[in-house]
Amino acid sequence: MLILGIETSCDETGVALYDSEQGLLAHALFSQIDMHADYGGVVPELASRDHVRKLLPLCDQVLADAGRIRGDIEGITYTAGPGLVGALMVGGSVAHALGFALGVPVLGVHHMEGHLLAPMLEDNPPAFPFVALLVSGGHTQLVLVNGIGEYEMLGESVDDAAGEAFDKTAKMLGLDYPGGPRVAALAENGTEGRYRFPRPMTDRPGLDFSFSGLKTFTLNTVSAAEKAGGLDDQTRADIALAFEAAVVDTLTIKCRRALEQTCSKRLVIAGGVSANKRLRAGMEKMADKLGAGVFYARPEFCTDNGAMIAYAGCQRMKAGQRDGDRIVAVPRWPM
Ligand code: KG4
Ligand code: ZN
Repeated sequence: MLILGIETSCDETGVALYDSEQGLLAHALFSQIDMHADYGGVVPELASRDHVRKLLPLCDQVLADAGRIRGDIEGITYTAGPGLVGALMVGGSVAHALGFALGVPVLGVHHMEGHLLAPMLEDNPPAFPFVALLVSGGHTQLVLVNGIGEYEMLGESVDDAAGEAFDKTAKMLGLDYPGGPRVAALAENGTEGRYRFPRPMTDRPGLDFSFSGLKTFTLNTVSAAEKAGGLDDQTRADIALAFEAAVVDTLTIKCRRALEQTCSKRLVIAGGVSANKRLRAGMEKMADKLGAGVFYARPEFCTDNGAMIAYAGCQRMKAGQRDGDRIVAVPRWPM
């Protein structure tokens, strides 16, 4: 089955062609980051308009790259939520219009299920069951994955997502949006041990997270440094490192607990923050001690992309799921 996957939930227009027998054939992404950078974050209306401009050209590009034509497409899947409603509507409308014109089935899929299954696109994908840490700009969740659609929530953030904390920390340090990769780059020059940030909710049992206190701790540290004579480059790097180390430690501690609690030997990390090198290294070290394996997607498939939506949608379409006539766009949607 040849599936066209469409992702437009936020500020990346992603399209991919996935074949259930041959695997991923082509993928293309247009990032709107430069357009939103002047505003310090995503402007929903601008995002929708740009998806309108880019989506069909990207569809043609992946078809050309794969040496296929529109008539070869056997199913279309798109991100139905969660996300910005206008942006979701663009992907859903194009998916349904194309599906109607080509006479092929259409299915809206959950964006976080896309992230969760993205490591399946790599060589040596994990077997079910596994524990998954979903860490993106909007979500921080620990999930026991028994199969496609068989998800048991083990824990989640009671306030901010880890990616959101990265983005806010970046702002405090004068870095551009999106902050995660920029905080990580700045932290490379940081001095170990100059600052020690808290590891929230690790001193009590359970698998939930909280990152809003860490954000406040960062703000207070930045303010104190400013008062004490200025926020020089070294101090900014030291704060970035202390923040990153605190997030990585916190996530690693909870993942270790989740692996122990479920007696699982496989850990998937997925979503934008799973591209973080320090996080990957921390997880590998922890899992090594437990004799467990860590699985993640290549960096470009950690952040938003069309390939994960094509893959997740293909699995669900193979199980017979279809949308019907209605375009589905669900801004808030628990997995
Ligand atoms: O999964 P994603 O692309 O979009 C959502 O579904 O939210 O995740 C975006 C988030 C942003 O908060 C971004 O700052 C963060 O992932 N991120 C990173 C890194 N790359 C992206 N955070 C830390 N280190 C990175 N290398
Ligand atoms: Zn995402």
